[in-house]
Amino acid sequence: MNTRFTFCMIKPDAFKSDTVSDILLDILKAGFKIRGIKITMLTKSKAEQFYDIHQGKEFFDRLTTFMSSGPVMAMVLERPDAVESLRKLIGKTDPAQADEGTIRKKFGSDTTHNAVHAADSYENAEREWSFFFSKREIY
Ligand code: CMP
Repeated sequence: MNTRFTFCMIKPDAFKSDTVSDILLDILKAGFKIRGIKITMLTKSKAEQFYDIHQGKEFFDRLTTFMSSGPVMAMVLERPDAVESLRKLIGKTDPAQADEGTIRKKFGSDTTHNAVHAADSYENAEREWSFFFSKREIY
């Protein structure tokens, strides 16, 4: 298992509030290198596919409707202990409960509109970046 890589996605609320560059800066300042990056739109059905693991949960429709409401920025990021470091940097799912200084605390508004997604395991990180990137798009 390669613990240097993870997957991150900046969500539509950050595009709406024009905070994408601030979030990127926080990620770079934390020592991550960007190894793949793209801005794209998810259709509702693509968002349902990406978040398949949450099918059947109370928030599934809210989440996938929101994630297909505007652009997202998908990224492959590199740093030692990538998954753990990025999860720490973004903070808890609910911005109100996230630690001061974390990305979700600074830029998120609620559990749905929480500015960023980060993979929660190395296995999921690879599955998630493969959803957005071909091998040639990651260097
Ligand atoms: P994310 O890291 O993108 O992974 C799954 C997402 O589901 C999570 O961030 C939240 O945006 C969303 N989510 C998780 N729990 C809830 C909830 N209770 N209500 C609404 N959205 C949720």
